[in-house]
Amino acid sequence: MTVILVTGSAGFIGSHLSHRLLARGDQVIGLDNLNPYYDPSLKQARLARLEALPGYRHAKINLEDRDAVAALFAEVKPERVVNLAAQAGVRYSLENPAAYVDSNLVGFGNILEGCRAVQTGHLVYASTSSVYGANGNMPFSAHSPVHHPITLYAATKLANESMAHSYAHLFGFPCTGLRFFTVYGPWAARHGAVQVHRRDPQGPADRRLWPG
Ligand SMILES: NC(=O)c1ccc[n+]([C@@H]2O[C@H](COP(=O)([O-])OP(=O)(O)OC[C@H]3O[C@@H](n4cnc5c(N)ncnc54)[C@H](O)[C@@H]3O)[C@@H](O)[C@H]2O)c1
Repeated sequence: MTVILVTGSAGFIGSHLSHRLLARGDQVIGLDNLNPYYDPSLKQARLARLEALPGYRHAKINLEDRDAVAALFAEVKPERVVNLAAQAGVRYSLENPAAYVDSNLVGFGNILEGCRAVQTGHLVYASTSSVYGANGNMPFSAHSPVHHPITLYAATKLANESMAHSYAHLFGFPCTGLRFFTVYGPWAARHGAVQVHRRDPQGPADRRLWPG
């Protein structure tokens, strides 16, 4: 049985991942503050399903709370960490940039420090296709240069990739970033691009091509 810390466990991707890990016999420590970026009752409902399962324990803390994150790592000593908690969304970064700095930069720094403290076996974290920004070379490739993010959201995720690379180099634990494109499926939040397409399949091109 492996002890795995999953941040964003009440979120769309994190809740699905937590179910899969529990089903294969891992112990999941879920971290999520259930913030109101979108309807918290959806997050509560996802969390209720997880909390009904043996092997799941929830920590309702903010990623940017350095002391709380450090205490959680010290207590549970996760053998693996999957960081999915983040302030997501492209448009919202124009309205509330502080949320991106807090969750995606300060919060991610706290996760890296926690991983270093316990020498976790592997950190997997969410990045985004938005890092391709002004790069017009198609198809996108993980080997394409990504030096020109055009939103704060993308800039913070690109910063995560650089931060993780430096920690992997300095402290010797493997880090893997996943550049998700548009993820969809059951239990998704309603503001997702796929939900927009279903309501408005003839919508303007910028809505049909909205990146993750
Ligand atoms: N869903 C997609 O299509 C997509 C595309 C590209 C990248 N991503 C990335 O994948 C990850 C997961 O995406 P998702 O769709 O599941 O998002 P989501 O918003 O459903 O889940 C994120 C969860 O993290 C929690 N959270 C956010 N900030 C927090 C903080 N500071 N402290 C504690 N908890 C916090 C939220 O309450 C939420 O439940 C995110 O990092 C996102 O940027 C998602």
